[in-house]
Amino acid sequence: MSSSKEWAGSALSDSGLNFEILWYDSLGAKSSSVLVQTPDVGVLIDPGASAMQRGFPISRVKKAYYRLRALRRISGAAHKAQVVVISHYHFDHFCRLDLKSLDSAALYRGKTVFLKNPNQFVNFSQWARARTFFSQLISKFGQTKLDKVLQPASSTVFPSPEEYMPLAFGKVFPGYQERREEILDKGRKWFKSVSKMWASNLWIPQLRFDDTEFKFMDGQRVEIGNTILRFTPPLFHGVEYDRLGWVCSTLIEHNGVKLIHTSDVQGPVIEDLAEWIVSENPNVVFIDGPPTYLLGFVVNKVNFTRAIENVCRIIREADKTELIIYDHHLMRDPLFKKRVADVYKVAEENHKRVISAAEYLGQEIVALKTRRYPHPHNVRCQQTLLV
Ligand SMILES: [Fe+2]
Ligand SMILES: [Fe+2]
Repeated sequence: MSSSKEWAGSALSDSGLNFEILWYDSLGAKSSSVLVQTPDVGVLIDPGASAMQRGFPISRVKKAYYRLRALRRISGAAHKAQVVVISHYHFDHFCRLDLKSLDSAALYRGKTVFLKNPNQFVNFSQWARARTFFSQLISKFGQTKLDKVLQPASSTVFPSPEEYMPLAFGKVFPGYQERREEILDKGRKWFKSVSKMWASNLWIPQLRFDDTEFKFMDGQRVEIGNTILRFTPPLFHGVEYDRLGWVCSTLIEHNGVKLIHTSDVQGPVIEDLAEWIVSENPNVVFIDGPPTYLLGFVVNKVNFTRAIENVCRIIREADKTELIIYDHHLMRDPLFKKRVADVYKVAEENHKRVISAAEYLGQEIVALKTRRYPHPHNVRCQQTLLV
């Protein structure tokens, strides 16, 4: 597969910051894995892949085949990285150590791994998944057990997300506001109950085993030579108080050139994240796009429109942003081009390149390829998990 070196005319190609797309959904399996390299460090973001959802119009065998290809591609590139980033604990973003298809421990061995903090701003299911994962890591790299390293909670009070997302929470939607207030109230109650879990349980500490280190990324800034890594505070995995939990975005900067990887933000649907991306003005940004395959089920029209408006704002206002890889949730829907037509129109008007990973690599988007070969799964309900 090609790397960013081939992208002529970009500030990127002269800066020493390069990226290699390892796998994205447009290639046929759920993933948002990228290798970013500077002269100082190689950073492997989100080393994981899952099979496409039940309603995706290819056979189960083909889904398993693409997932395996993705995992092999990611593990084959891992030796180029000294740093690994795990934006959250959904299985398309990291590999557990009990996978049969590859030696997952090799993805992490000898590296500094920055992970989403598993103790706070994490939903119930990711709290549990993170504990299973850490127990595997601790047993593999430290020959001990998770309960031997757990510590009392370092905090029992957690700031409201509303404090640092004023734009999203301050937004008023005529005709939908009453319903929105009801949803936000339920969200606040859910936040209280999940906070109670964080405060009343033991926490996983940051860990080091010889040359393998596990650190929490939320809101951190790290300098490696002339390369700066910055991680956002926890962001909703979608709308306000999204029950899917939280993720962290990654920004990598070298020689004044910036790359942002948003992970799973469903659009972005939150205006404060769009504002942050515009203010950072990155040269390249990887954005997951709205999960249009869930329109009418999990995603309503209002929030879908927000996701479109936010990415259009980034295209119009981030003047250094020449390339947006718009891929992940969006590429699970064969009708994505029609659904987000406004985004492509605004990109064209502003002479910006908004494309999928497959198109960037000169390949066909699997979701589009399959439209020519209708499959029985096509008619199944699209209701499925985003994980
Ligand atoms: Fe994902
Ligand atoms: Fe996710």
